[in-house]
Amino acid sequence: MIHLPDGSGRTPARGGNAGMSSEYLEIRDLRVTFDGFKAVDGVNMTLMQGDLRFLIGPNGAGKTTLVDAITGLVPATGSVTKSGVELLGMKVHRIARLGVGRTFQTASVFEDLTVLQNLDIAAGAHRGPLTLLRRRKEVLPGIEEALEITGLGRHRDAKAGVLAHGQKQWLEIGMLLVQNSSVLLLDEPVAGMSSEEREETGNLLRRIGGERTVVVVEHDMDFMRAFATSVTVLHAGRVLSEGSVAEVQADPKVQEVYLGTAAAGEHDIDSAAAPSGEATTEGDR
Ligand SMILES: Nc1ncnc2c1ncn2[C@@H]1O[C@H](COP(=O)(O)OP(=O)(O)OP(=O)(O)O)[C@@H](O)[C@H]1O
Ligand SMILES: [Mg+2]
Repeated sequence: MIHLPDGSGRTPARGGNAGMSSEYLEIRDLRVTFDGFKAVDGVNMTLMQGDLRFLIGPNGAGKTTLVDAITGLVPATGSVTKSGVELLGMKVHRIARLGVGRTFQTASVFEDLTVLQNLDIAAGAHRGPLTLLRRRKEVLPGIEEALEITGLGRHRDAKAGVLAHGQKQWLEIGMLLVQNSSVLLLDEPVAGMSSEEREETGNLLRRIGGERTVVVVEHDMDFMRAFATSVTVLHAGRVLSEGSVAEVQADPKVQEVYLGTAAAGEHDIDSAAAPSGEATTEGDR
């Protein structure tokens, strides 16, 4: 069962419940095949607004491919609907415009531009060419808000290239916020971060997560345990387990995948964060 972040233990229902809005992302029988290889093999997932969902699983489980399929970067079959609107088959920019945003395992900010310019460009992705042609002197309210929420206000005039690793990831998240993304798919956002940066990132995700749907692809199990409201475990392109952190950690199938044996009771998935090697910090595949 998926628990809502309010700790009430209620199960989220499509159409909203108890003040939750009806924003949701529904994935049905999603499949991605590369030359006959089933990278995503019939995934079903329902993501509600307010959910901070962690998507975990061994290297090669299909996590990034799943995000790629949702955002239109790889062809897929099945169905992905955002509040009822089918996304599959849409072009990448249309999906982004519908409020489904993602980050990549390697930060992709414009290093030679300032923080403000990066945010301005991201905001511009949402505007028509005529608006873009007009000179903008004042900082748009949405950009101020993004600077505030990501804590990057002090660095607004710094070139993105000189930012610390963590700050670049926060800038990317800020860029999704100014694009009005209501579904944020973050691919290993804390890889390579210091523990302080992880903590700050977790708090940032909480701040933005209340009104949005946030999916975090992660190998860092400590980070997951501290911040996840729900977890989906992917293995060999399929959903192996889903539920609260405690439910997933207690699932023998999950322990088996992470440890190679269901009987290794003294371990938990925390001690086997990246089963086939260290969590990747760069390069997706
Ligand atoms: N463009 C592609 N062409 C062929 N095979 C691919 C392609 N992209 C991914 N794959 C394969 O699909 C599988 C899933 O890859 P994916 O990158 O989604 O895994 P992941 O769960 O994100 O792994 P990691 O934790 O290492 O990032 C892997 O076996 C990968 O080699
Ligand atoms: Mg990946």
